[in-house]
Amino acid sequence: MTATASSTPALDVERLREDFPILAERVRGKPLVYLDNAATSQKPRAVIDAVSRYYGAENANIHRGVHYLSERATVAYDAVRERVARFVNAASPREIVFTRGTTEGINLVAQSWARSTLKPGDEIVITGMEHHSNIVPWQLVAAQTGATVRAVPITDAGELDLNGFDRLLTDRTRLLAVVHLSNALGTINPVRWMVSHARERGIVTLVDGAQSAPHLPVDVQALDCDFFAFSGHKVFGPTGIGVLYGRASLLEAMPPWQGGGDMIETVTLEHSTWAQPPARFEAGTPPIAQVIGLGAALEYVEAVGRAAIGAWEEELLAYATERVGELAGVRIIGTAREKASVLSFVVEGVHPHDVGAVLDAEGVAIRTGHHCAQPVMHRFGVPATARASFAFYNTRAEVDALVRGIRRARSMFA
Ligand SMILES: Cc1ncc(COP(=O)(O)O)c(C=O)c1O
Repeated sequence: MTATASSTPALDVERLREDFPILAERVRGKPLVYLDNAATSQKPRAVIDAVSRYYGAENANIHRGVHYLSERATVAYDAVRERVARFVNAASPREIVFTRGTTEGINLVAQSWARSTLKPGDEIVITGMEHHSNIVPWQLVAAQTGATVRAVPITDAGELDLNGFDRLLTDRTRLLAVVHLSNALGTINPVRWMVSHARERGIVTLVDGAQSAPHLPVDVQALDCDFFAFSGHKVFGPTGIGVLYGRASLLEAMPPWQGGGDMIETVTLEHSTWAQPPARFEAGTPPIAQVIGLGAALEYVEAVGRAAIGAWEEELLAYATERVGELAGVRIIGTAREKASVLSFVVEGVHPHDVGAVLDAEGVAIRTGHHCAQPVMHRFGVPATARASFAFYNTRAEVDALVRGIRRARSMFA
């Protein structure tokens, strides 16, 4: 993260918290301390209201209607595509495909681009710190095509070991798929550098932006990647909506992966032809309310300011790392030099689930388990970790509550 507190306006966190109704809730008789933002983030009133307004006053199906409401819904839906394009700095809204989430975006690339392109012996390069959703789709398409999957190893600090990267990219490598910001370790990967090395060799590149979109500035043209996938629900929007950015020249050459309404140009009983992207990849009635909610979420994030968000989260993570790191018997998993928003740890003598349960009794929500990154757990020799993950509405006082809970878990179990 490059933003610094001195160069960006400070956030009024207490004021911003008022935008999120759920943050005023009490759980188990205690004020909610929500530190599970990597799993899903909370929603500001602006998003809740936009979805509610749509259902209460504007609900209609898009694209097929001539009536007032349908036209209005269509305009609102199309406007969000333009907003998303600006959010990731795509060259055109035509490069923005709406999906159900990051997972579906990656599966779309696997089943459309990869399945129609890969040949036996071709190689897909991923990394050892991928979420399962950036591993399993490649294993599936590898089995379908005869390709193989190889992985960049990770160091003890939880960084990618890029020493052998140039050797890993061979003349059989067709795809590099890499996570921007690891949900299990918090590592920010040097994706721009990796993408440029891959592209020099004509390798197609995909960046999993599920965790980076809410925390880091995203510029797909600067990254120069071919695909970039993220989820609405992690960036303060609704569930059930995600985004796949795809370079226009690739999307145009890709076959559909699902058939149905809206993705066609012509249909006869014998044969169909395809609409241009992005419609080609959006079969059926899309999640209209969720798209509208996503638009409200991105508008909200931009109004708060992405640089200010980054600066505050950096400060908060540094504080949490220091406070948790000084606790006896606590080992932080993932100590990369470049990190954001995620603090994974294990407590000596206490199972992560017990840490989570003690914290939960105090109203502190963290996540425990393998975080859909089992290869990372294997790499660090742990079955699971406890993970606190932050958003811009979190405070130092909430980090203090986390620390008190970990102490309590240790005194009860260790
Ligand atoms: C790094 C990363 N990639 C992909 C995903 C999958 O996102 P979704 O479940 O929203 O499709 C997640 C979700 O936690 C993630 O953290």
